[in-house]
Amino acid sequence: MKLAHSAAELGQLVRTAIAEGKRVAFVPTMGALHEGHLRLVDIAREHAEFVVVSIFVNPLQFGAGEDFDRYPRTLEADCDLLRARDCDAVFAPSASEVYPPDGRPGKPTERAGIIGSTFEGAARPGHFDGVLTVVGRLLQLVEPDVVIFGQKDAQQVFMVRKLIGAKYRDVELVVAPIVREPSGLAMSSRNRYLTPSQRETAVVVSKALRAVDFAAKHGLPASFCIEAGLTLFAGEPKAKLEYLAVVDPQLFKPVTDKFKGEALVIVAAEVGGVRLIDNQFIEIREQDA
Ligand code: PAF
Repeated sequence: MKLAHSAAELGQLVRTAIAEGKRVAFVPTMGALHEGHLRLVDIAREHAEFVVVSIFVNPLQFGAGEDFDRYPRTLEADCDLLRARDCDAVFAPSASEVYPPDGRPGKPTERAGIIGSTFEGAARPGHFDGVLTVVGRLLQLVEPDVVIFGQKDAQQVFMVRKLIGAKYRDVELVVAPIVREPSGLAMSSRNRYLTPSQRETAVVVSKALRAVDFAAKHGLPASFCIEAGLTLFAGEPKAKLEYLAVVDPQLFKPVTDKFKGEALVIVAAEVGGVRLIDNQFIEIREQDA
């Protein structure tokens, strides 16, 4: 496994792989890798002979007062994990490689639009502009055939799909399923901030999703399904619910009770100062007679 810090070094590695007739798969990350990321690498390997993982904590997607400074930076440990997982190249650029000439990102060059200011975007203004800007930059630098994103960040996937459809049509987008701890907690780099008792509290997030799914399986309309999830949060006051919604996956907008078909339940909650997000697809069907 090769480690490239500059775009020039990475370009060399990728060009060599292409000359050898290899397809290139790309997994963008901010490091602090966990099993969820490593599964993305496994999936990348299924799609290509040359797998690149980027590790870059993108300043542009963190708002003032967010955890940019304390975001875990664990390059050595990340490389050890990736080496064991059959990754070919790690791209760990400095900010000036991604945002030349001086590494100061300035203003985002991509706009996430209206959906980018709802849910995660409402809680983190400008977040998706920053995500899309760095994803665009990384796609230009890596030039992969296929890029892998995790379903855990459902709204990010929605936004990135639009970006790729508009500007990077040659790149195939593969979305990998959420990886969960045995408790049901979705894996996230931020889980490491949770104490053992906060971890127990955090399980309410995935339990609420399951409650919504259970209600949907019983033929209840969307608003009743949401109520089922809210009941779980009512019983766990240490978790501060931010939103729990059922959205149309094609639009990322809340559905009405008339909606039937595949929907996406999205949730965000704070436990011990740590913001957790999760989601699950459900099927809303005709009400039982
Ligand atoms: O999902 C992430 O880790 C980040 O948002 C991404 C896609 C690597 C962009 O910085």
